[in-house]
Amino acid sequence: MASNIWARKSIDKLIEGVSGEANQLKRSLSATSLVALGIGAIIGAGLFSLTGIAAANHAGPAVTISFILAAVGCAFAGLCYAEFASMIPVAGSAYTYSYATMGEFIAWIIGWDLVLEYALGAATVAVSWSRYLLELLSSWGIHLPAHFVTSPYETLSLADGTVIDGGFINLPAVIIVFLLSLLLIRGTQGSARMNNVLVVLKIAVVLVFIILGWSHIDPQNYVPYIPENTGVRSEFGWTGIATGAAVVFFAFIGFDAVSTAAQEAKNPQKGMPIGILGSLVVCTILYVLFSHVMTGLVHYSEFANDAKPAATAFAKTGYDFLQQGLILAILAGYTSVMLVMLLGQSRVFYSMSQDGLLPKFFGDVHQKFKSPWKTNLFFMVFVSLFAGFVPVSDLGHMVSIGTLFAFSLVCAGVWLMRVKQPEMKRSFKTPLVPFVPIMGIAVCVYLMSSLPVEAWYRLAAWLGLGLIIYFGYGRKHSKINHEIE
Ligand code: ALA
Repeated sequence: MASNIWARKSIDKLIEGVSGEANQLKRSLSATSLVALGIGAIIGAGLFSLTGIAAANHAGPAVTISFILAAVGCAFAGLCYAEFASMIPVAGSAYTYSYATMGEFIAWIIGWDLVLEYALGAATVAVSWSRYLLELLSSWGIHLPAHFVTSPYETLSLADGTVIDGGFINLPAVIIVFLLSLLLIRGTQGSARMNNVLVVLKIAVVLVFIILGWSHIDPQNYVPYIPENTGVRSEFGWTGIATGAAVVFFAFIGFDAVSTAAQEAKNPQKGMPIGILGSLVVCTILYVLFSHVMTGLVHYSEFANDAKPAATAFAKTGYDFLQQGLILAILAGYTSVMLVMLLGQSRVFYSMSQDGLLPKFFGDVHQKFKSPWKTNLFFMVFVSLFAGFVPVSDLGHMVSIGTLFAFSLVCAGVWLMRVKQPEMKRSFKTPLVPFVPIMGIAVCVYLMSSLPVEAWYRLAAWLGLGLIIYFGYGRKHSKINHEIE
């Protein structure tokens, strides 16, 4: 069978295909709601957990510069996302855009790669969630069995000084993934309102931390601001700042979620760039201030192996009565991030199954709840396996490299489409093409190159597996190819 792996979906058909639904999806989201949506998906484990790892192992107090570097890469990619989102204003993701613009093969690669962003992203946040839960429970005098809260290759330092070098499973992380997946199966109504509450809560926590922490900063902790490189690449110095940026890049993931709401934006031409770039700007400012205070309260070296550095740092302020509220708000804030990621993942696999690239199983919709419940169940197990058995830093690296790769493809796609189809209507145009896409690709690839080589091997292995599945299954079952024939 001669199938065309470069076959593209027609944009008109895409828009037509959802027109029944589209008429029901109200264009009700203002630019402010889009910014809120972005922040809801963005602030999470990257800030409250990986900042500590990036500071302790790579950048020291200069983790603030790492945040700025990562934000620059995201801004370039964000501008490209905004063009795609306004060109194909249907609910979707990078997978849908690339199917219409760059063809099936690239779409498959992006869709497959997004599993690293969404599914493993959810697992990373779940692991960090479990650490903060532990902290909360121990402040109430409840101590869970250490081997059931630690994954096999993880080192965990407990408050009483005990160090667990490898446990059996991170059970709380598994349980939260199960609960949220089951919630998603029951539908997503009411999530927008809940999201707004969670966003306010999250921003409040970050502000309280910054404002109350500021006066307790010990300037000695900033000396030296950029610790000298140890002679090993990525251990402090400039290469350390770059690796730190690749690690905390995780903290920005989620702004692309704004683009999935293109169909519901009141005025996508203005709303999309404001939503995407606005949430990036707000988060960058908060992140830089937060990490500045965090590394000012506690010497960065103390964050090694600490998966709940925000709580450790806040303890220095002496506001003990606020500590539990802070942790509770962090736990609630994580929930919205995990929900968005698990939801995004199921949507992508659902679409891929609808297109015939994955078995029908993934596209089955629950009769009563109207959710792709089998996909949700599948990822409940898949994500739990990672959350239960893999340490947070390995997971974070995988998510970062996968997402950086997807962003580079999106940047390349925008440039390619300008060359190939300049006449196509775009309600938002990325400025300075090809400069912005090229810079987006350059920063993303640079950050990828700063990640440990194991992350590259794992990315290659994951993409290799994806190619086997595509050529073994997807290419033969692709609906678009059958239509062409
Ligand atoms: N940006 C999200 C977080 O940091 C994924 O949790």
